[in-house]
Amino acid sequence: MKKICTFGAGLLLLVLVLAGCAETNAAPSATPTTVQPAPAGLYGPELAAQAFQKGGCGACHIIPSVKGAVGTIGPDLTNINQTAQAALDKGEYHGSAKTVQEFLAESIRQPDAYIAPDCNGAPCQKGLMPSTLANLFNDEEINAMVQFLMNPPKEEASASQEENAPTPATQTELINEEEFAWAKQVYFERCAGCHGTLRKGATGPALTPDKTQPKGTLALASIIFNGTPRGMPDWGKQGFLTQQQTEIMAKFLQEEPPTPPEMSLEQMKATWKVLVPPEKRPTSPQTRRDWENYFIVTLRDAGQVAIIDGDTYEVVDRVDTGYAVHITRMSASGRYAYVIGRDGKLAMIDLWTEIPQKVAEVQVCYDARSVEVSKYNGQEGDFTDKYAVVGCYWPPHFVILDGQTLEPFKVVSTRSYTFDTEEYHPEPRVASIVASTYKPEWIINVKETGLIWLVNYADPNNPTIKMIEAARFLHDGDMLTSSGETVNWP
Ligand code: HEC
Ligand code: HEC
Repeated sequence: MKKICTFGAGLLLLVLVLAGCAETNAAPSATPTTVQPAPAGLYGPELAAQAFQKGGCGACHIIPSVKGAVGTIGPDLTNINQTAQAALDKGEYHGSAKTVQEFLAESIRQPDAYIAPDCNGAPCQKGLMPSTLANLFNDEEINAMVQFLMNPPKEEASASQEENAPTPATQTELINEEEFAWAKQVYFERCAGCHGTLRKGATGPALTPDKTQPKGTLALASIIFNGTPRGMPDWGKQGFLTQQQTEIMAKFLQEEPPTPPEMSLEQMKATWKVLVPPEKRPTSPQTRRDWENYFIVTLRDAGQVAIIDGDTYEVVDRVDTGYAVHITRMSASGRYAYVIGRDGKLAMIDLWTEIPQKVAEVQVCYDARSVEVSKYNGQEGDFTDKYAVVGCYWPPHFVILDGQTLEPFKVVSTRSYTFDTEEYHPEPRVASIVASTYKPEWIINVKETGLIWLVNYADPNNPTIKMIEAARFLHDGDMLTSSGETVNWP
C-alpha cells in the first residue's frame, strides 16, 4: 500500500470509449427549420456578414473582420483565397471548380466535394459542415460571401445596427415543454460531465446562451451529431441521438440552463453493476508484477485510467471509467483503486488479477469530485475497505456505498447554513474527502458553507456528524500521518 501512488495528467485527444451509449432515448419530433429570406437593401460586405451570421459560420470558422467568427472546428478562413488556389494547383482537388470563386461557392453548397486537410491543427472531418446550409441562401448571398472571403475588408463588417443584429436563421423556434424536459435529462446524463452541470464549461467549452445563440441550431446540431476531432463525441453517428434529437438539444442549449435534476437512491441503483462479485475475486494476488508499485494515471478526457508498472514502466492496462476522471483513491488494503469521474460515475478496479480489472461501477450524482474508502482498523472494529463514500457537486450530497460491491445505501444532503453568516445555501458542494486511520471517520469538506464535517461511519445508516466551522470555499485537505493531526485548509 505504501508504495502505491496516484496522480492525474490531463491527456487530451485520446480515443473516447462511451460506455452505454448504444441505448436510444425516445424524444418528441422536432419542428422543421424555416428559411429566412435575405434582407433587402444590403450590399457587399454587409450582405456577406449577414449571411455568415445567418449560417452560423462563425461557430466553426475564423473569418477576418466578422464579429464573433472565432470557431476552430473548421479551417481558419483568413487566407482562404490562397489555400483554395493551392488546393486547385496541387491536383488533390477533384471537384468541378476551376477558379477560387467557384471553389468557395462549392465549399458552401457542397462541403463534402473536397475535404480541407487542416482544421486548426486537427484533421478536418467530413460531414461536419452541414450540407443543408446551402438551402438557407440565395445566389446573391453566396456571391457576397465568396467575394468577402476572396478579399476580406479591413474594417469589421457589421450587417446592421446592434439592436437589430441578425440571429442565426435556425435559432428562432423554441422547444416545447416535453422536448425541454427530455433535453434537460439527457444533458445531465450525457453532457454535464464535460460541459458542467450549469453549462459553465469543464473539459468541454461553456454552453451558456451568450455563447450558443450566435452559433445557431444548425451549427450546434451538426457539432452534436458529428462530434469533433478535439474531443466532442459524435452522438448522432454513434446512434445515440437522431438528427431531430440533436436539433432539440441544440435549441435547448440556446435557452437559459435550468436547475439541474435531483438523483434518488433508486436512480443510483439503476446504474449499479457488479461485474465481478466479491466471492468470484481471487483470494491472493494473481499477478507476478509488483502490484504495490503500480501508478494509476488519469487519462482525463478519454474517461480512462492507465495502470503503469512502476518497475518496468509498462502500461499494464487501460480501464474505462467515468468521463473527465477527477481523482483515484487507493483502498485501505491497497488492493482496489476507486476512480471518480466528474460525471459522478465511480469505478472500482481490482489490482490483484493478472490484468487489473474493473469489478464494479455506479453513478451517484451528475457532477462529482471526490471519493474515499473506510480505512480505520482498531478498537471500534475493522473497517478496512468496508465502505466507500463519494462527494458530489450536484446534487449537493455525499453517498455511502458498500466498499466491496459499490452498492449505494445512504445519501446525506449537504444543503445547510453558511458557518459565518448563518444563511441558507441551496448547493454547498462536497470537495475533498479524507479518511482517518485513527477513528472510523471521514473528513468531508463542504465548500460553500465553510464547514468541515467529521462523519463517523461506525453505524453508516445513522451516521453522526460533527461540524467544524472553518472557512468558506474549502477545497483540498490532507492528513499529517506522522503526528496523526488532521489538517484542512481552504
Ligand atoms: C458545424 C461546423 C461548420 C459550420 C457551421 C460551417 N462550416 Fe465551413 N467547414 C467546416 C469544416 C469541418 C470544414 C472542413 C471540411 C470540408 O472541407 O468540408 C469546412 C470547410 C469550409 C470551407 C473550405 C475551406 C478549405 O480550406 O477548403 C469553406 C470555404 C467554408 N467551410 C465556409 C463556410 C461558410 C461560409 C459557412 C457558413 C455559411 C460555414 N462554412 C459553416 C465546418 C463548418
Ligand atoms: C467527453 C467530453 C464531452 C462530452 C461527454 C460532451 N462534450 Fe460537447 N464538447 C467537448 C469538447 C472537448 C468540445 C470542444 C470541441 C472542439 O473544439 O473541437 C465540445 C464541443 C461542444 C459543442 C460546440 C461548442 C462550441 O462552442 O464550439 C457543443 C454544442 C457540444 N459540445 C454539445 C454537447 C452535448 C449536447 C453533449 C451531450 C449530448 C456533449 N457536448 C457531450 C466534450 C464533450
